Amino acid sequence: MCGIVALVGSQPAAPQLLEGLRQLEYRGYDSAGLATVTSQGQLTCLRAKGKLVNLSQRVEALGAPGQCGIGHTRWATHGKPEERNAHPHRSVDGGVAVVQNGIIENHRQLRDGLEASGVEFQSETDTEVIPHLVSAELHRRLQNGEQPSGSTLLQAVQTVLPQLQGAYALAVIWEKAPGALVVARRAAPLLIGLGEGEFLCASDTPALAGFTRTILPMEDGEVALLSPLGVELYDGEGVRQQRMPTLLTGTDHVADKREFRHFMLKEIHEQPETAALWVSRHLPEGLPASMPVALPFDEAFYAGIERIEILACGTSRHAALVGAHLLEQFAGLPTAVHYASEFRYAPPPLAPNTLTIGVTQSGETADTLAALAMEAQRRCAHPDPAYASRQLGVTNRPESSLSRQVPHILDIGAGVEVGVAATKTFTGQLLAFYGLAMAFATRSGSRSAAEIQTLADELRMLPQQLQELVSLHDQRSEALAHRFAETQDVIFLGRGINYPIALEGALKLKEISYIHAEGYPAGEMKHGPIALLDAHVPVVSIAVPGTVFEKVLSNAQEAKARDARLIGVAPEGPDTALFDDLLPVPEVSEWLSPLLTVVPMQLLSYHIAAHRGLDVDQPRNLAKSVTVE
Ligand code: F6R
Repeated sequence: MCGIVALVGSQPAAPQLLEGLRQLEYRGYDSAGLATVTSQGQLTCLRAKGKLVNLSQRVEALGAPGQCGIGHTRWATHGKPEERNAHPHRSVDGGVAVVQNGIIENHRQLRDGLEASGVEFQSETDTEVIPHLVSAELHRRLQNGEQPSGSTLLQAVQTVLPQLQGAYALAVIWEKAPGALVVARRAAPLLIGLGEGEFLCASDTPALAGFTRTILPMEDGEVALLSPLGVELYDGEGVRQQRMPTLLTGTDHVADKREFRHFMLKEIHEQPETAALWVSRHLPEGLPASMPVALPFDEAFYAGIERIEILACGTSRHAALVGAHLLEQFAGLPTAVHYASEFRYAPPPLAPNTLTIGVTQSGETADTLAALAMEAQRRCAHPDPAYASRQLGVTNRPESSLSRQVPHILDIGAGVEVGVAATKTFTGQLLAFYGLAMAFATRSGSRSAAEIQTLADELRMLPQQLQELVSLHDQRSEALAHRFAETQDVIFLGRGINYPIALEGALKLKEISYIHAEGYPAGEMKHGPIALLDAHVPVVSIAVPGTVFEKVLSNAQEAKARDARLIGVAPEGPDTALFDDLLPVPEVSEWLSPLLTVVPMQLLSYHIAAHRGLDVDQPRNLAKSVTVE
């Protein structure tokens, strides 16, 4: 949450900072701000409530000169989304400006100390303690005869950082050291982009991609001084670090909406491509029967695994629930899915020979990263090697914090996803679990080679089926969406492998349309939720042929008997004639069905929200990357 950018070089900083913020706006859009400093030491700070466009207008009207600067797009944690709480925050004399992404957990205590020494705070944020602390340290150093310079700023920040508890990525400028920028990170992402005589630092790659492809991801606890002369990188102990930069891979790091009205719609339409890429990488023709899926792991990775635990949040957790169904029912491995935020404080007793999988499209979700770290720690402390930590991350961001934390990564390769509501990354996560389930089933012998091959063949046909489905439902759901103009509650029902898709359908609808929605296993409806039903509460029911087809249809009948309008996500045919509206899906094996049934869910939510004129890509109160607990 929150995105930061910082630039130092020889060109005017403000346009590049605004462009960087535009690429990061998905991380928060409650308010935005920037501060620049000229070579003569004139510091300008401009901030605006609301979307980035408000800040851009202010910069255009008032100007922000200087070749060095910092910028921020905010997702409010401490303090309302008001201009006074927008970053950058400044020291009392205005000479130091700071942007921060994260949470300073001991800010209250630091604030009390600063207030006792006479500092008057201008905001309710946790961040504001930082410019005051840095400024006090700078004054102390100047009084001791130090000359203002980038090194002085660096040392002042290094002195202050140990006082801060929590997770943060921050950038600091000082009017007395105009060509210097100090950046630091602890448990929040920060990457340095290396240009020619200019350096850009940002929370995420899209902000860097249009600037350079040569990047230096900062490690936890590192601090850097950036100036037109280069980058000085230090670890948390102040020891200078030398590391080779890496190259940004992939072609689509820059967000581009193409001809689509919203990023979310574009990303839903990209799902056939996501599937095609996955098939070409992991199911190339000619794989031997002994290895029906190509995953980037050696035999040691699979050896001895008896059970799996999966840690995830939100949509990633829904993908994990489908994954758990596949791993248990197809591959025969006991699998438990945990909310990462719950697992952190109430982990189950340790079991031996367990693979822990963290699922996070951003690779930056604080709860998931912390839960994985905690699990690794308690397993490392165990004397019996059977309990050793074995971890895998499933992510769309192979360069994220997750990949620096876990030893194995399965890159879903969905390409940059800008819409805050996850769509194509969900499909990518599902596909990762299909791959894992096939790989484990081959080794466990839970399925015959023919069964695994059948699933592989079905997956190869998926891109084409998705293509047809997306085109069909883009129109069908748009037509249906106008019926939801007055709707306040929707129930989503599914069973078995499609129960998580009911949860995902409900989550998609609530987060972008603000309509209250709940997903239930269809058989649970009669145990309570049925009391909600009447003619004003539509029920979306996922009914695909397989083990629970008839049961789901009976559950749908029960809803119909309470006057609920029934929307079916089901194949066309006499069995599904009971639905008032049908969003048809092709008849495929039940195993494969979640990859298809989710598409009408996504498009229905999208069109309902778009029909209501809502900001689909940036729904209120949400952010794409939840880097706070
Ligand atoms: C919903 C959504 C969120 C995320 C959740 C986890 O559309 O996007 O629920 O799924 O915040 O995010 P990641 O996958 O980045 O860990």
